[in-house]
Amino acid sequence: MIIKNICCIGAGYVGGPTMSVLAEKCPNIIINVVDLNQERVNSWNSNDLNNLPVYEPGLAEIVKNCRNKNLFFSNLIQEKIKEADMVFISVNTPTKKKGLGAGKASDLKWVEACARQVAQYSSGHTIVVEKSTLPVRTAEVIKSILKESKKQNIGEMPLKTFDVLSNPEFLSEGSAIKDLLIPDRVLIGGENNDAINSLCEIYKNWVPEEKILTTNIWSSELAKLTSNAFLAQRISSINSISALCEATGANVKEVARAIGSDSRIGSKFLNTGPGFGGSCFKKDILNLVYLSEFFGLPEVAAFWESVVNLNNWHQNRISKLITKKLFGTLSNKKIVILGFAFKANTNDTRESAAIQICKNLLEEDAYLVIHDSKVAYKQIEVDLEKKVLNSHLTNNDDSKISKGGNWNYTQDLSGIFNDADAVVILTEWDIYKSINWEVVSKFMRSPAWIFDTRSILSPIDIKKSNLNFWQIGDGLL
Ligand code: NAD
Ligand code: UGA
Repeated sequence: MIIKNICCIGAGYVGGPTMSVLAEKCPNIIINVVDLNQERVNSWNSNDLNNLPVYEPGLAEIVKNCRNKNLFFSNLIQEKIKEADMVFISVNTPTKKKGLGAGKASDLKWVEACARQVAQYSSGHTIVVEKSTLPVRTAEVIKSILKESKKQNIGEMPLKTFDVLSNPEFLSEGSAIKDLLIPDRVLIGGENNDAINSLCEIYKNWVPEEKILTTNIWSSELAKLTSNAFLAQRISSINSISALCEATGANVKEVARAIGSDSRIGSKFLNTGPGFGGSCFKKDILNLVYLSEFFGLPEVAAFWESVVNLNNWHQNRISKLITKKLFGTLSNKKIVILGFAFKANTNDTRESAAIQICKNLLEEDAYLVIHDSKVAYKQIEVDLEKKVLNSHLTNNDDSKISKGGNWNYTQDLSGIFNDADAVVILTEWDIYKSINWEVVSKFMRSPAWIFDTRSILSPIDIKKSNLNFWQIGDGLL
């Protein structure tokens, strides 16, 4: 089956960039990205390309090239499903908040809603592709919903038929376009070779054939969860070692270099930090934990849960350490927070370590001035569950406001350090690497501290200032 028309349900961090790259690489395929969220759709259609709902280097150029040629964003869900030969489901699958499996299992209500929409509005033969990250055997749920609609094929109506494929997405935010253009692999799980081949043919437009892996559908679903679990496990491993380095006088960067040189271990994903964030690691591991418990494997569940537990402990460890270094109290102290996104090059704050760390510091009555040039203060308000004191600080002059347990926001680094007691680097944005600390130290209140949770500063540079310095995993500081 040659695919000419694709509908992607979900115009989020995955649906938007994935379909943009697909549109650029397959100019002969019409691609409709549909979403319930009208505001999001409007932003994708915005003339101001700086206003796209997702910030990814390289994305705006692709959207500019393809939008309204073969790439369309709308809320015309029914109509676009009907026209499509292939429907990608790329909707959110967060952790369930209540009911059976609350706190661990994925909430599949959005996926189920999509399956029902496809069952109702599709016509002819439709290949349904799971792009969202899903628990193993979700394809079974989708299939049984689609099967019901087949039963309704009656009279003169053309026959509806379906295939279901799993095609999980492995992109990382911040490098999504590069990851999509040059993926390590594309994974396609399914039962019907014709359907698998139809999707392979699309990817072959730019991905070398040897990088396209085909598996059975359950292996594909499980491989996605396992991949994220392995990556997160490496981060918890190195973060646990960072604490041990600080206690013993070792240096975590040196340890990481030494172990990463072993080709069996490899050097990637060994950067210690404030704890992993992002919308997926925690939710996908908890999903794996739930599945393991469900299938009667408590030891397997406990092993993976410990990765998340370590991450939570690590974030709290950092805020406690800051409080201790500042004489055990943050009351009447100004702390500058550099970075709120869960990593650099994204505007996404979901599960960002900054959220827990900032909440802990506010709980200690600190006054925070938060800087992030890509995250909007409205998002920070939602994440901290606390209103900003003043979103329009003039020249960062905050001298006249009452501050304890409050926060302000700025996109301007000048003046931000005035009278600050400490600076905490939480996201590794490039601009923070070139700050002149010798100059900054003159404006801070002594004894002033820098806490570098991303290990991006050079201790030699800091020594030139009179600032106290803590860098994650450096036991000699
Ligand atoms: P997101 O929340 O950014 O986007 C999901 C979109 O789906 C939302 O805009 C929502 O309005 C829309 N939606 C939900 N139900 C709908 C329906 N019935 N009809 C139309 N639109 C609907 O989520 P995301 O970050 O793009 O993640 C999507 C999936 O991809 C998740 O399963 C996630 O685990 C997985 N994933 C995410 C990433 C990532 O980097 N964010 C990477 C790989 C995989
Ligand atoms: C991650 C995976 O890397 C993707 O392959 C996957 O598709 C995606 O999850 C998903 O399923 O959502 P992402 O969350 O965008 O991608 O970003 P990562 O680069 O993996 O970073 C996750 C978190 O780990 C960030 O907070 C980052 O700062 C932290 N991290 C990463 C470290 O602390 N150290 C490292 O060495 C690497």
